[in-house]
Amino acid sequence: MNMYDSARMADLLRPLGYDMSPAPQGADMVILNTCHIREKASEKVFSELGRLRPLKDDMQQKKGRKMILAVAGCVAQAEGEEIVRRAPYVDMVFGPQSFHRLPEMVAKAARGAGAVLDTDFPAESKFDFLPEEQASQGPSAFLAVQEGCDKFCTFCVVPYTRGAEYSRPAADILQEARRLIASGAKEITLLGQNVNAYHGEAKDGTWSLARLIEAVAALPGIARIRYTTSHPKDMTADLIEAHRDIPQLMPYLHLPVQSGSDAVLDAMNRKHRAEDYLKIIEDLRAARPDIALSSDFIVGFPGESEKDFEATMDIVRKTLYAQAYSFKYSPRPGTPASVQDGQVGEDIKAERLARLQQLLITQQTAFNQSKLGAVLPVLFDRQGKKPGQIMGKTAYMQSLYIEGAGQELIGKILPVRVTGAYQNGLAGELCTKQDAVMSFYSNPITQVSA
Ligand code: 5AD
Ligand code: SF4
Repeated sequence: MNMYDSARMADLLRPLGYDMSPAPQGADMVILNTCHIREKASEKVFSELGRLRPLKDDMQQKKGRKMILAVAGCVAQAEGEEIVRRAPYVDMVFGPQSFHRLPEMVAKAARGAGAVLDTDFPAESKFDFLPEEQASQGPSAFLAVQEGCDKFCTFCVVPYTRGAEYSRPAADILQEARRLIASGAKEITLLGQNVNAYHGEAKDGTWSLARLIEAVAALPGIARIRYTTSHPKDMTADLIEAHRDIPQLMPYLHLPVQSGSDAVLDAMNRKHRAEDYLKIIEDLRAARPDIALSSDFIVGFPGESEKDFEATMDIVRKTLYAQAYSFKYSPRPGTPASVQDGQVGEDIKAERLARLQQLLITQQTAFNQSKLGAVLPVLFDRQGKKPGQIMGKTAYMQSLYIEGAGQELIGKILPVRVTGAYQNGLAGELCTKQDAVMSFYSNPITQVSA
């Protein structure tokens, strides 16, 4: 979401004469677009500001020009005036719901009348004030359809920083999707903090996410659709069926469960039991047998016993993940869990995380290895680190690289034979068409893996 927001900020600033700069040195404006979900997010922002300060001073002294320094995003929303107090050389502080006011803020900051602070949750939707996107996002594009969250999981800052749940009208989303396709997008990822809670206005009533995906899939030129991040509680039957019925909807789902223990899920206010999650997984696999699954996990949540943690290991063993993110619980100021009894010691958290990650890595590697020798359609979307390396993504969201290829592949979806499978991705070789057809019949890509 932050990458999407940053691109939209660039769209707002371009008419004022700004353009992207590869480095902060000599830039007229530097915006730190921050995320508050990670541990010590605020401290990282202050240390980054400390590094930028000499660049700002240098620009003033050597060139007589002001570098506008801004903090945007969820840390700006959460810390607000504290940023201006601790780093008075910052010119603008604004949250994720008010960045459409950037042009006014820049005008004020350029006049130099003190720091401009805007951490409102305005009544108007920023989406109504953003200009059309101007820079292409390339073959794989993000599109925000929903923002904010009303779930209030007790560990999470999102409901406080991104605000209440809001769904964009369907017509606006479809317009934006058409423009993304026209500028080269083959794959669109629909974004929202609680994306499957989407309930947007449309001309014939309120649309669910499944209905929206169906409409996006009907746009000419779209090859792949994804959505992230979902909550188990909103995994409705129509969305599960969409995985069976809509060929452009990719067989991959990031569906965080956080914990496998009902007691912990309850304390987290997740509003579902482990059993409900496993039933969703079963239904998803019935709808789309080859679906690759991903999740987020928190270990060491306040009150988590060894038995609770074992329940998490158990849900991982039962689900079989293609990949996952896992974290030690860390208290976030202002959230209910941060002041809860039963905080778990650092050493126990570290030990549980290591055990969980070992299991997840084994599953991820097994998932990647299950594709060895298969021919998979790959969307090439970027250059690799080494010359001649081109990177792409399989339908299952695995990174895959091929060697000795040219830039002209970028933006294309081509059949690739998987020749190497590792913990973090795949290596492959381009196939001829005939090769691909033959291989498809001998090695169907819908084979259930892991
Ligand atoms: N401690 C640890 N992990 C957290 N996450 C969110 N808040 C916290 C926290 N306080 C993790 C959750 C969420 C992911 C984006 O970040 O697993 O799904
Ligand atoms: Fe945070 Fe997701 Fe829970 Fe909302 S549903 S409070 S964004 S973890």
